[in-house]
Amino acid sequence: MMLQDKVAVIYGAGGAIGGAVARAFAAEGARLFLTGRHRAPVEIVAKDIVSAGGSAEVAELDALDEQAVDRYLQYLTGMAGRVDISFNVIGLPNPKTRVPLTELDADKFSLPIATYTRSYFLTARLAARRMAANGSGVIMTVTATPSRTGTPLIGGGGPAMAAVEALTRNLSAELAPHGIRVVGLRPQGIPETDRIKESFEGYAKASGVTWEQFQETLASRTHTHRLSALAEVASMAVLMASDRASGMTGTTVNLSMGSLDD
Ligand SMILES: NC(=O)c1ccc[n+]([C@@H]2O[C@H](COP(=O)([O-])OP(=O)(O)OC[C@H]3O[C@@H](n4cnc5c(N)ncnc54)[C@H](OP(=O)(O)O)[C@@H]3O)[C@@H](O)[C@H]2O)c1
Repeated sequence: MMLQDKVAVIYGAGGAIGGAVARAFAAEGARLFLTGRHRAPVEIVAKDIVSAGGSAEVAELDALDEQAVDRYLQYLTGMAGRVDISFNVIGLPNPKTRVPLTELDADKFSLPIATYTRSYFLTARLAARRMAANGSGVIMTVTATPSRTGTPLIGGGGPAMAAVEALTRNLSAELAPHGIRVVGLRPQGIPETDRIKESFEGYAKASGVTWEQFQETLASRTHTHRLSALAEVASMAVLMASDRASGMTGTTVNLSMGSLDD
């Protein structure tokens, strides 16, 4: 198994990608510490893992609260002896309305930039301090295609994703000498997730398209003429978290199905 006995913490484990990655990590033998802002959705993921014979603990944890994350990692390393993988995939709720940049309130513009960078910065550095002591570890980030392509009506969402990708590179530059890899995933839209469906509702209202037309438009920009599956994103997360990806650090895996050139 690719992650046999690896100790992994996931932030946002009750979400669509977080849950899929947690299940995939468990299937490859990882020991999981699953966290989320609300306990109930994380419990569902942990129950599945444990009933399939895996190992998962649950904690309610705000991944923006430095002291709470620090205390949790203290607990986790006390229990498991170390942390090998830190996977942050928190997601802010989609904005209720789509506002052009020229009309957008400055605080609303700044919110995703401040939130994502703060959470990724805190969780990464608190994990890195523990990983450096062991001389190994993998820190993972998740972004989206607006990090690299002009996307209308998403406010500060694109700049936030671009900032997280820059942070991924810079963390790697500082941490690789300590044996820690930092790797991002940049998935294409995943139609199975509520996030993409909600996002569609905003566009549908603005442009009068159906769910099918919306998916077709997104898919037409890819080489495969289809969007990503959650299982594909989770498989790549497993590979990147595993020792088989020892050559990958300071970069974000482009899962855009060809819609973004390297
Ligand atoms: N879905 C896609 O198609 C897609 C594609 C590319 C990239 N992405 C990116 O991947 C990320 C996750 O997407 P998703 O579809 O998995 O979203 P999701 O299903 O909405 O899950 C997001 C999770 O993050 C949790 N969360 C939010 N703030 C938190 C905090 N401060 N501390 C701890 N947990 C927190 C939420 O918990 P609560 O619900 O309890 O608040 C929720 O469980 C997003 O950044 C998104 O942009 C998604």
